Amino acid sequence: MDAVVLVGGFGTRLRPLTEQIPKPMLPVGHVPMIERLIRRLGRGGVTDVVLALGFKPEPFHEAFPADRCGDVRVTYAVEPEPLDTAGAIRFAADTAGIDSTFVVANGDVMTDLDVGALVEAHRVAGAEATIHLIGVEDPSAFGVVELVDGSESGGGRAGRIERFVEKPAPGTEPSNLINAGTYVFEPAVLERIPAGRRVSIERDTFPELVEAGSMFGLATVDYWIDAGVPDLYRAANLDLLSGDRVHDSCEAISPDASVDPGATLMNTIVGAGAVIESGTTVVDTVVLPGGFIGARAQVESSLVMGRVEADATVIEAIIGAEGVVAEGDHVAFDTVPAQQ
Ligand code: GTP
Repeated sequence: MDAVVLVGGFGTRLRPLTEQIPKPMLPVGHVPMIERLIRRLGRGGVTDVVLALGFKPEPFHEAFPADRCGDVRVTYAVEPEPLDTAGAIRFAADTAGIDSTFVVANGDVMTDLDVGALVEAHRVAGAEATIHLIGVEDPSAFGVVELVDGSESGGGRAGRIERFVEKPAPGTEPSNLINAGTYVFEPAVLERIPAGRRVSIERDTFPELVEAGSMFGLATVDYWIDAGVPDLYRAANLDLLSGDRVHDSCEAISPDASVDPGATLMNTIVGAGAVIESGTTVVDTVVLPGGFIGARAQVESSLVMGRVEADATVIEAIIGAEGVVAEGDHVAFDTVPAQQ
């Protein structure tokens, strides 16, 4: 089965980390986010993935030198200009010649969803489109659905979607079930998307499918996180240390990192090539490959790709690859270098 994976966004919310590395290539537990996603799609029966890109594919070629990720074949569709989510799906599907039931996934979703179960629910319903749904406490920042005729299917509750509202005003949400960013489509969906221009799957295509009565959802209680914002990107990493994920886990410290025995690390991931000097305390933090934390520095709840010099204090901050927190400085609730 084919899958289109959307990876062409700008990743603005993860700046400055995304200034050097495209968001899907950022590591989650030492492995690029995109690689964990493709492996999961492979476990669910996907054999061919087309990456829908809006920019240069080089970092992806480097990650998948033989155009394979495990058993999954990887190809690329590079848009001449960003076509938005539906436009990108249409362009990628046309490029790859997709002409049967296929999967679509947002590149920054980390979940334990069994894609095979979503495909099965889609087939049972005879749907044109079936989307994965997750219940959340505050659905107002997401696409929210009203599900009818809910019945048990493949480890979740499946039903027809009667309403799809993208980012409803708080208090007006039809339910707490949100679009979780993994879809199964019939090729007929592609015919609803005009070629060669910007079209949004959430704002344009889903309302049309709801109107046609051919859009279904499968609500599950799987682990799910949209890793496209700093706190959730950090959580997606640290959750791999807890042992709660079904297929994914990681070591806290990469064998290629240098951590002084006099450093205290708690609930922290240290990537390849990172250096942590003696007397430091690092808590609830992801130190990305190449990150540096100097002697006696205190770092808490942060993402560090650049340098935190000796005796500095860093709390709830993002330090980009070019970022330097000077010796003895304090940085809290901020990004370094500062963002516009
Ligand atoms: P922000 O800039 O931080 O909002 O991130 P983003 O650009 O990735 O946006 P968002 O998370 O809303 O996008 C959802 C998914 O669609 C992500 O996987 C994006 O990579 C992808 N995406 C968004 N717009 C485009 C586009 O024009 N082309 C392609 N190929 N993918 C897109």
